Amino acid sequence: MTETDRVKVKRRELTDTFLEGKNMSKVYGMGRKANRAVDNVNFKFRRGEIVSIVGESGSGKTTLAKMILGLTSITEGQLEVHGQPRAFGTTAEKREYWKNIQAIFQDPFSTYNVFSKIDKVLLNCIELRGQKNLPYAQKVEIMTEACSFVNLRFAELTNKYPFELSGGQMQRLMIARIYILKPKLLIADEPTSMVDACSRATILDMLLKLRDEEDMTIVFITHDIGLAYYVSDTIYIMKSGQFVEQGTSDEVILNPKSDYTKRLLSDVPSIYEPWDLSSDDVEEDEFAAASGGDS
Ligand SMILES: Nc1ncnc2c1ncn2[C@@H]1O[C@H](COP(=O)(O)OP(=O)(O)OP(=O)(O)O)[C@@H](O)[C@H]1O
Ligand SMILES: [Mg+2]
Repeated sequence: MTETDRVKVKRRELTDTFLEGKNMSKVYGMGRKANRAVDNVNFKFRRGEIVSIVGESGSGKTTLAKMILGLTSITEGQLEVHGQPRAFGTTAEKREYWKNIQAIFQDPFSTYNVFSKIDKVLLNCIELRGQKNLPYAQKVEIMTEACSFVNLRFAELTNKYPFELSGGQMQRLMIARIYILKPKLLIADEPTSMVDACSRATILDMLLKLRDEEDMTIVFITHDIGLAYYVSDTIYIMKSGQFVEQGTSDEVILNPKSDYTKRLLSDVPSIYEPWDLSSDDVEEDEFAAASGGDS
């Protein structure tokens, strides 16, 4: 076992394809102004798989997420759920689809209706899950459990509006929604961008726990190739709307084939150069010296 294997999240057997994209493209605008934001991508996301999509700003990551969620149309190609073209015509079909496929976005403020109180946000999830007619006391139980999963106290949140929460609390509330909905696939578009390193680790932890407990498929969209390597089974590298490289995280990070991936990796040498770990000691010494310690 190598040093890098040891620190990574445990792998598992992945066989059951949940979502498959076939030659999917998104073109914004028309004629000379047409912009191919996503350009002929293919992918298979399997049950319980953790996928990362990594690419620079403007490479089409969020656009792809929006196509998968049905928030924007697919210009070319198609999306299949369990081998069937996705049914997304009627309101009932959309609700069913969103029960299974959910997202948390870069900007948590945009997820919530600012005029809905927090209990309403969570009650909507219970409804979407098909439990509209449960007695209220039971709904409170579900909401309380979801809040405590993300270290929030439901009693303190009722009657508050989302904008009265901090960025970190809001992000955890988004995960409480996911905890209630238990979708089969979750797209997390830079979910940790607003929080400090400590909350970031906690949020990742919560998401990985959901994967383990529910066999949820999680698609991380991120600029952070270190995070991608640490958590993912599979990594897709995206550039100008295309996947320029894809494979297991070891294949992509330890043995990159495309020049673009190599260039991305050159910014973070410590991921695949284990001898760099020794630099920890240097930092400790430096820290001790800088903080006036005499060790
Ligand atoms: N609603 C829209 N109308 C027109 N063009 C759009 C729209 N949304 C995105 N684009 C364009 O599509 C391309 C891809 O944008 P997208 O938001 O998917 O990038 P991204 O990879 O998510 O970037 P970032 O890392 O900065 O979030 C960009 O050229 C962008 O200008
Ligand atoms: Mg984006």
